[in-house]
Amino acid sequence: MTAGIGKARARANIALAKYWGKSDTQLNLPAVPSISMTLDPLLTETQVELLPELRADVFVLNGEASNPGELTRATQLLDCVRAEAGVRLYARIESRNHFPTASGLASSASGFAALAAAARQACGLAFDARKTSALARQSSASAARSVFGGYVELPAGVAGDATLAATPLSPPEHWALCIVVAVTQEGRKAVGSTDGMTHTKLTSPYYDAWLAAAPKLADEVRAGIAERDLGRVGRAMEQSTLAMHACALAAAPGLLYFQPATLAAFAKVRELRQTRAAEVYATMDAGPHVKALCAASDAAEVSRALAEVPGVLRTILAGPGPGVELL
Ligand code: DP6
Repeated sequence: MTAGIGKARARANIALAKYWGKSDTQLNLPAVPSISMTLDPLLTETQVELLPELRADVFVLNGEASNPGELTRATQLLDCVRAEAGVRLYARIESRNHFPTASGLASSASGFAALAAAARQACGLAFDARKTSALARQSSASAARSVFGGYVELPAGVAGDATLAATPLSPPEHWALCIVVAVTQEGRKAVGSTDGMTHTKLTSPYYDAWLAAAPKLADEVRAGIAERDLGRVGRAMEQSTLAMHACALAAAPGLLYFQPATLAAFAKVRELRQTRAAEVYATMDAGPHVKALCAASDAAEVSRALAEVPGVLRTILAGPGPGVELL
């Protein structure tokens, strides 16, 4: 480790029990618990270098200057670290997503987890997974989970609790599951998660019902992971995604993240299950892609079946991976 430089690697994650809605917008605290799997090989590598000659932070993302919104979010994170470490220098951030080409997957979780770890290291703070997770959470709640490997929970936050961090449930080697991503569309999603969940909270008549249902579904997912019971995890996972989307659909105006291919891929997952071709379950986030969860031994069969669905552009396979790594 060189003074003033921090370098870290972190992976994306998929929520098996979904986070949707905040209990504290200022501190970015989730209103419901969420549980995820950290995914290999979808990773981001980030370097933070403190440089005396800089008059502002600089953020280079995938070889190009980041947009102003991304720079603001990165600077806010760096400001927290600088305040804790008593550092006054600006930083040059270089971040690269090593995702399969146009995977259609969000990189904010891996991005902010890697940035949080690299920024703390650059400012001379000792590695502390909990603090790194709480820091990443302030930028994007799902990023708090990517700090840990394997199966991870982010509890619901009580308004005002600035220290909320994710906790690891089981390491990657606990259970060889696979996520098969059916990519259904290129490009960015129409309404991002942050705006989508704010709009849902403000206008959906089903928001309170979602808040009541989500913790019970997280309990089921957590118990299913502990028992390595795919049926238990999968049933609760499908209910969690459908309840989240039902709540968002009922907002005014309604938020519809699905495309025709999303429903076709979802139907294929249920068909594979019903015909006993594979035990597989599906989940969708704030976008049109379908993420199918199955045993690693069924992944090739599930991938083949999903790739044949009209509108599915390609599939990507990912297994449970490690948490954030300092480089
Ligand atoms: C549907 O973590 O992207 O993927 O905290 O506002 O940055 P912010 O939201 P974000 O939301 C993720 C929502 C989700 C479900 C999940 O990952 O739990």
